[in-house]
Amino acid sequence: MASDGGQDERVYHTPVLLAECVDGLNISPRGVYVDVTFGGGGHSREILNRLGEEGRLIVFDQDEEAVENIPADLRLTFVHANFRFLKNFLRYHGVDAVDGILADLGVSSHHFDISERGFSFRFPGELDMRMNRNAQKKASDILNEYDVVRLSDLFYRYGELRNARQIASAVARCREEKPIKETDDLLAILEPFTRREKEKKILAQAFQALRIEVNGEMVALQEMLLQTLRVVKPGGRLCVISYHSLEDRLVKNFFKTGNFEGEAIKDFYGNVETPFTVINRKVIVPSDEEQHANPRSRSAKLRIAEKK
Ligand SMILES: C[S@@+](CC[C@H](N)C(=O)[O-])C[C@H]1O[C@@H](n2cnc3c(N)ncnc32)[C@H](O)[C@@H]1O
Repeated sequence: MASDGGQDERVYHTPVLLAECVDGLNISPRGVYVDVTFGGGGHSREILNRLGEEGRLIVFDQDEEAVENIPADLRLTFVHANFRFLKNFLRYHGVDAVDGILADLGVSSHHFDISERGFSFRFPGELDMRMNRNAQKKASDILNEYDVVRLSDLFYRYGELRNARQIASAVARCREEKPIKETDDLLAILEPFTRREKEKKILAQAFQALRIEVNGEMVALQEMLLQTLRVVKPGGRLCVISYHSLEDRLVKNFFKTGNFEGEAIKDFYGNVETPFTVINRKVIVPSDEEQHANPRSRSAKLRIAEKK
């Protein structure tokens, strides 16, 4: 979830594209499913509703606060870990192959709403942004330690900020005076770059770029997707909701070709070999009603594929 549009009620998280996603998993009541981004458990609860007594659901979240949302249900196993270790943890829990995997990428509303986690430009707080609070690198470390080229690259690639280079230079100038520690420090740096009508968008993009870097989100996504080639059974489904064009491009290419570059691999006879059948040719986005009810769903894109 990339958008930092405020919500009135402090719910942990409102699930996005709930029916579309769980329908996409094509649940068999006795199947084994994985929700690699448990969060508030909205998608997981709906999966459990559709599973029979013999079904099984394994859920991952790297943030220990997600534990508070675990329903009392013996069919569910919670794994407090990064989904980049998908295959190992499945094996640890006695599972070699699964019938479906759901990934609802990014952070939950809860992360944006808790000021001390530093994810939101709306609140004063420490520039932390770690989903896993045992991880070493905080957003403030990146701002204080990366050189200008590296900073500029991450603002450009992960934030799609046109002024990435100038923003990176402004960060470097600021930290010569004093270390950058708080969200307010970053807001002051960004102030000259925020034209009034686009202020929130630019702030959201800059904060998002840092969050993606802090949590190694692109690498984790690629590692997890590659493991699905081994763990999803033939006929099993993969549903991924992304909130950022870079993530969506990776998912789209991977579903189409089995690699992230989107290069078709041909067999000896020239037939294109792909590990998946793409279920929705056109990306699925939230309806106007859903976007209205949950503005944070605005940038969501759902892609569904079936393992051959
Ligand atoms: C958008 S929320 C998921 C919300 C969930 N679908 C729901 O209905 O409540 C993403 C969740 O995935 C977790 N997460 C993100 N990246 C992760 C990763 N690489 N490994 C494990 N958990 C991750 C975040 O901590 C967050 O709780």
